[in-house]
Amino acid sequence: MDHFQYRNDELFAEDVAVSDIAQKHGTPAYVYSRATLERHWHAFDDAVGEHPHLICYAVKANSNLGVLSVLAKLGSGFDIVSGGELARVVEAGGDPGKVVFSGVAKTSEEIAYALKLGILCFNVESESELYRINDVAGNMGLSAPISLRINPDVDAQTHPYISTGLKANKFGIPWERAVDCYTLAASLPNLTVKGMDCHIGSQLTSIAPFVDALDRLLDLVALLRQHGITLSHLDVGGGLGVTYEKETPPHPREYAAALAKRMGEHQDLTLILEPGRAIAANAGILVTQVEFIKAGDDKHFAIVDAAMNDLLRPALYSAWQNIIPLRPRNDEPQALYDVVGPVCETGDFIGKDRELAIRPGDLLAVRSAGAYGFTMASNYNSRCRPPEIMVDGKQVLLVREREKQKDLWKGEHKVT
Ligand code: LLP
Repeated sequence: MDHFQYRNDELFAEDVAVSDIAQKHGTPAYVYSRATLERHWHAFDDAVGEHPHLICYAVKANSNLGVLSVLAKLGSGFDIVSGGELARVVEAGGDPGKVVFSGVAKTSEEIAYALKLGILCFNVESESELYRINDVAGNMGLSAPISLRINPDVDAQTHPYISTGLKANKFGIPWERAVDCYTLAASLPNLTVKGMDCHIGSQLTSIAPFVDALDRLLDLVALLRQHGITLSHLDVGGGLGVTYEKETPPHPREYAAALAKRMGEHQDLTLILEPGRAIAANAGILVTQVEFIKAGDDKHFAIVDAAMNDLLRPALYSAWQNIIPLRPRNDEPQALYDVVGPVCETGDFIGKDRELAIRPGDLLAVRSAGAYGFTMASNYNSRCRPPEIMVDGKQVLLVREREKQKDLWKGEHKVT
């Protein structure tokens, strides 16, 4: 459930009419709901129940300081993949002691920065990375907490671009090599072996692959114990899907409860979850205005002011996101539209074959845009990125200003 609902034929974000926000801040604009973010986070946290656990929100889904600060206030941990994401967490008031650092190629600078801040754990993806972290920690006179990302070779049955837990993917350490790799980690002087992690993919719509992966990891935990290596946490990654169209993913409550149940006999292991999309996607919309309608023989084009640079998912993954009017009208017949942006690419579409009753000047909301929306936005075609707005009850907070044209060439230099 989210807090974007119609009231008397007018779309509201919590207690604010979205058209009022559009009027004040212009379009395109991202609008987030604080209550929805909080609700989704609590759904995970409550479901794990009494088992020791930490919800580490995946910052890549939506890294706006407003979003991060809302989650930090709930006591959330964070899953990061760069020094930049770590800096954002710190700036937003997040606790570095609750940060796990994922990613296949952390630089020495990023490792040093994270060690200085005292993060919870490095999720390590290769032997080479173990050596690098060991070296950096040694130079700083510190011991680095590490976990190994195990590739469990489980098919997440999702889009190939966002499937990560198969042998064919670049991520993690193959299950078969895990014991050797842990033995190496335990032998390196500046590392402290803390845990095990995995992440099998994103937008998963059933529980089975998660449970399969967890079982494979738990087998490995037992095997490691026989080799004298004991762990203190197990991190199952993120990946729970959301409803964009007709998908019926398990509720975060069911998902987290299924995992916690599996952990029953492993009370000594803290469970870490790294949800991103399931917390943020349906806590945000992208508001856009219809500029022109181009009528065609077969279908029409609704040219809107948002484009692939603002929301890349449709162009990159052929992702389907619902497009709804802020004020549904009955004085215009429904017609079939491709909703396209102003960018000079055929792939610049937000939605195809959508039944809409619209006129130029109408405002539309692209739903489920709170995750992998703004974070994947670019300045392609020298377009200024949209503002981000957080609604909290009746309050409207501008949490990122619309970019200005002079921001476009910040740091660039003319040649004379
Ligand atoms: N942990 C790790 C190590 C990850 O790589 C990811 C996502 C997550 C957690 C969070 O996954 P989530 O709960 O959000 O599914 N841009 C794509 C999604 C890429 C996901 C990459 N990794 C999209 O828009 O669909």
